[in-house]
Amino acid sequence: MTETTKTTINRLSDYIGQTVTLAGWVYHNRASGKVLFVVVRDGTGLCQCVVEAGAVSEVVFEAVKRLGQESSLMVTGTVRAEPRSPGGVELAVTDAAAICPTEEYPITPKEHGVEFLMRNRHLHLRSQRPWCIGRVRHTVIDAIRRFFNDNGFTLVDTPIFTAAAGEGEQTLFSVDYFGQPMFLSQTGQLYLESAAMSFGKVYCFGPTFRAEKSKTRRHLTEFWMVEPEVAFIDLPGLLELAENFVSSIVSRVLADNRPELETLGADIAGLEKITPPFVRLTYSDAVDILTSERAQRFLAVQLDEFKAQKAVLEAELAEIEAADKKGGLKKWQQEKNARRIPELRGEIAEMDTKIENNPKHAELAAGFKWGKDLGGSDETIISLMHDKPVFVTHYPRSAKAFYMKTDRANPKVVENFDLLAPQGFGEVIGGSVREDDYDYLLRRINEEGYNPDDYGWYLDLRKYGSVPHGGFGLGVERTVAWISGQRHIRQCIAFPRLMDKVYL
Ligand code: 4AD
Ligand code: MG
Repeated sequence: MTETTKTTINRLSDYIGQTVTLAGWVYHNRASGKVLFVVVRDGTGLCQCVVEAGAVSEVVFEAVKRLGQESSLMVTGTVRAEPRSPGGVELAVTDAAAICPTEEYPITPKEHGVEFLMRNRHLHLRSQRPWCIGRVRHTVIDAIRRFFNDNGFTLVDTPIFTAAAGEGEQTLFSVDYFGQPMFLSQTGQLYLESAAMSFGKVYCFGPTFRAEKSKTRRHLTEFWMVEPEVAFIDLPGLLELAENFVSSIVSRVLADNRPELETLGADIAGLEKITPPFVRLTYSDAVDILTSERAQRFLAVQLDEFKAQKAVLEAELAEIEAADKKGGLKKWQQEKNARRIPELRGEIAEMDTKIENNPKHAELAAGFKWGKDLGGSDETIISLMHDKPVFVTHYPRSAKAFYMKTDRANPKVVENFDLLAPQGFGEVIGGSVREDDYDYLLRRINEEGYNPDDYGWYLDLRKYGSVPHGGFGLGVERTVAWISGQRHIRQCIAFPRLMDKVYL
């Protein structure tokens, strides 16, 4: 086959009028008489390639016509402007060659449940939604690194094999380390505190492991967390750092991934509001809100909205099913309906879950007692009642980790915060000022029933030049889920690990 200038789909608009060669996979292939419309993807985007009989040899025409979804190929053609095409261009094909023709690719545009797609994750990653989410994730991670690197932080890589618990012994994964028990890291924080006394401002960024026995849409057993730690900082300073940090991530994604956000149906207008300052509530304020009349009214209005939304979805489904039944639809209309029906069924099922949960959440909120940690549904209510992210500060000491600094003005609470993303996504960041007093810290270690010998080096940091310091951890998958509008965080990492499932 004739090869010309090789390029990628995202750069095609630089080559209008020129002949180029693309390498990729067949995303969709449709014949309409003497013209083939082959949508090709190459990892950078989609491009419609138009093959007219006569513009290529008959052998090539017939070969391309038979190429199934996900066949790999090279294709040469002239780039021409086509405002109706994604990317504004298409390729008028002059030559093409299959690399690996494919038949009966398992993932078709038809109905597939989440289970099926997850079992076929190795192939599903090529589909449009996982691709868009993967692009957003890439930008989020790049923006994270850029923010800290540009703001005077030093990267410190903390170990994954650890000897002691950072975030509660119930969620430790143990491993056999040459006959010695060891754990997979739940957090790099304790090590970072040591490093912060050397570099001042540090961060770590890596995989984190939690044996969470909760099958929720917000929990993975392996997730990525970025943790900054700063010497000489107080709680207001941490909140300011966190809101600037999160805002910078969101604005980078808006700048770099708008088409992906649009394809995913993310709330772009909502994301545009993510600018400092965020809302600041104390835990006690949050409890007052949860147990208020206003929260109950808010939930009642929400229930009515869910019911109305369900009715709209059901009407659309009935209309499509009636049209299918009547028959006489064009092939493209049939295909479009075949794609839309499972989507609608999924959305209706989701609405049913929301309608079922609403009264349960209302009851939990009304009966909330000061002292408990906020649960998933409580966070959802608080975050839904605000259209900006919400900081909740000063939680009860008994509900939080041993290292958080006891508030000297009110020893029942600690100087900590959680950041709740809007639209019901809940916690994306947890952080605190750290206990910097040797005696207070030792008492907390004993209260938790930990062995102080395991924390000897950590206690040393309070003996030699202890200073006020603090930091936080942001979960990458939860952040990606919030920004890209995904309900379940398993969609936000290429190969998710869940409590009850590791697919591949
Ligand atoms: O609130 P967490 O447990 O805080 C810490 O680990 C602190 N040591 C961080 C610090 O102060 N340096 O976890 C921080 C964030 C959560 O807000 C959430 O975004 C994410 O990590 N996270 C999880 N993400 C997915 N699956 C899980 N099981 C998660 N657990 C926490
Ligand atoms: Mg937390």
